[in-house]
Amino acid sequence: MSEIESAKQETRIFNPPAEFAKNATISGMQAYQALRAEAERDYEGFWARLARENIEWHKPFTTTLNETEAPFYKWFEDGQLNVSYNCLDRNLKNGNAAKTAIIFEADDGKVTKLTYQELHGRVCQFANGLKALGIKKGDRVVIYMPMSIEGVVAMQACARIGATHSVVFGGFSAKSLQERIIDAGAVALITADEQVRGGKQLPLKAIADEAIDMGGCEALKSVIVYKRTGGNVKFVEGRDLWMEDVVANQPDQCEPEWVDAEHPLFILYTSGSTGKPKGVQHSSAGYLLWTMLTMKWTFDLKPNDIFWCTADIGWVTGHSYITYGPLAVGATEIVFEGVPTYPNAGRFWDMIARHKATIFYTAPTAIRSLIKAADADEKVHPKNYDLSSLRLLGSVGEPINPEAWMWYYRNIGRERCPIVDTFWQTETGGHMITPLPGATPLVPGSCTLPLPGIMAAVVDETGQDLPNGQGGILVVKRPWPSMIRTIWGDPERFKKSYFPDEFGNKLYLAGDGAIRNEQTGYFTITGRIDDVLNVSGHRMGTMEIESALVANPLVAEAAVVGKPDETTGESICAFVVLKRSRPTGDEAKQIAKELRDWVGKEIGPIAKPKEIRFGDNLPKTRSGKIMRRLLRVLAKGEEITQDVSTLENPAILDQLKQAQ
Ligand code: PRX
Repeated sequence: MSEIESAKQETRIFNPPAEFAKNATISGMQAYQALRAEAERDYEGFWARLARENIEWHKPFTTTLNETEAPFYKWFEDGQLNVSYNCLDRNLKNGNAAKTAIIFEADDGKVTKLTYQELHGRVCQFANGLKALGIKKGDRVVIYMPMSIEGVVAMQACARIGATHSVVFGGFSAKSLQERIIDAGAVALITADEQVRGGKQLPLKAIADEAIDMGGCEALKSVIVYKRTGGNVKFVEGRDLWMEDVVANQPDQCEPEWVDAEHPLFILYTSGSTGKPKGVQHSSAGYLLWTMLTMKWTFDLKPNDIFWCTADIGWVTGHSYITYGPLAVGATEIVFEGVPTYPNAGRFWDMIARHKATIFYTAPTAIRSLIKAADADEKVHPKNYDLSSLRLLGSVGEPINPEAWMWYYRNIGRERCPIVDTFWQTETGGHMITPLPGATPLVPGSCTLPLPGIMAAVVDETGQDLPNGQGGILVVKRPWPSMIRTIWGDPERFKKSYFPDEFGNKLYLAGDGAIRNEQTGYFTITGRIDDVLNVSGHRMGTMEIESALVANPLVAEAAVVGKPDETTGESICAFVVLKRSRPTGDEAKQIAKELRDWVGKEIGPIAKPKEIRFGDNLPKTRSGKIMRRLLRVLAKGEEITQDVSTLENPAILDQLKQAQ
């Protein structure tokens, strides 16, 4: 059944538990509607009120939204603040100094707790260390680190001195890292000797060395290395320093660098529909505001909550719901170094029980793989764990299918906990369309309704609103504070990708399709409408993978498509034409393995195609255009029913039908 069909047929509704609704920050649909109405009545007034109430400003703003250079919108433009000050110092003043900020659990189970006072001291020391190295406001710093307290400290320290960080996920290859260092013009790289995941030690510093040795990173003056394992690493005299030496003797106080509201807090690279990843640039004030509000609204955060977001700081979810949002609202949060399946697939449930987590936020892929694991081994079934501390569950990164939703609801939430299925993107900075746990009746597989102030809509190719029940293109009609500001170094691409001419440069184009339910108006996301894949909640461009494949000397041509996958949501299927004759049998297997490893080196293991099929050619139109929609059908193993008369070489379809 298609996404659209299943969304239309889903009729189960789960109302918020009365007790939850009673105590919720946004309690009941009327409260939600009232906020929406406020935003509709006085859009700027609504955001100005929230920005004044939530952010501690060094210099208050007087203008709320500047649209003169649209779509380069500016929010709270003449205000000044510091994001790290808002996350840390404010908690010291608010009586949270002795409150636990971070409960860190290492891969091997060792737990380290840090209070707000201690975290503040660590961030200040490191910020002072960065300044001593000459790193200053506006400089770019690339962070390539494992999940760690030090990773959060590094990001916060950059924010404190006004340096713009760009975190690169620790699973990316040397080449990906090099490209990001160059594109950002980074002056420093913060990394670790190694990372530890699932009982294995994996190199980081060695990959960083390889990246820098590839050349082009001339702006990079310092490499700071957090000693995680003590593993063997090479040091370059005058460039490389241990993090412990950088902070040694530095005072634990550091006056924050006050920055303008629009100052770029970070750049985060993500995949688009062309080969080159885009450096999504975020602001300081607007971004901070939305991470705070969504912590309060979507997660209904209360002072006693133990909040756990399982994302990695290398992705936007880790930025908004580990490094910034939870700290800015004074939460206690869990930061986990490891993987959900080590030492066994009960790790998440065991950690919830031990740390008494109250809010748990994870990705559908993790849920689906843990369902499989629980089915295969009774011992790691969640029923064996005390999950009574939980009061709210969340899902992020990809569509959650109703079966996985129901399992999560029953087995983890024990039918007590609402599930917030949060739809958002790297570009949006925080949640966009999501249930509010104390207000919204839930429907499995639907992210329900936009948050107050978010003017989401479903339109056709001309930008006209579509009636409910008709699938179309997801857009946002008004700018919002935490939106992407530009693509680093490429404002034209920003405009073209998100505010294209076809929509009069006025509508933000998310890149997803959506449909609204006829009765409720609830949104269901029907998947990407561009050449972007979502594998295990990781976003990847088909062109990026194709470019990596054709860079291999054996490959003449490649086309990559997504294929539905029970566990990972989508998987990568590559159709490849070699420069030599088409391989078969064991030879095909051998070359496929070589190419998979090649892609792993070019981009990172997450981009390795699950399946590679070889052909003498690819299905093309007479003008030479590859017919990807046919390849998608072939990848799924379905029969082609479409018209293939425009194909130059229809016979090729039979050859590509078989998986090797
Ligand atoms: O296709 C949507 C999907 O993930 C894309 C954004 O990916 P990324 O920028 O990596 O950010 C992921 C974390 C926010 C979207 O364009 N997506 C994200 N959340 C959902 C989703 N699809 C359906 N339902 C969701 N809740």
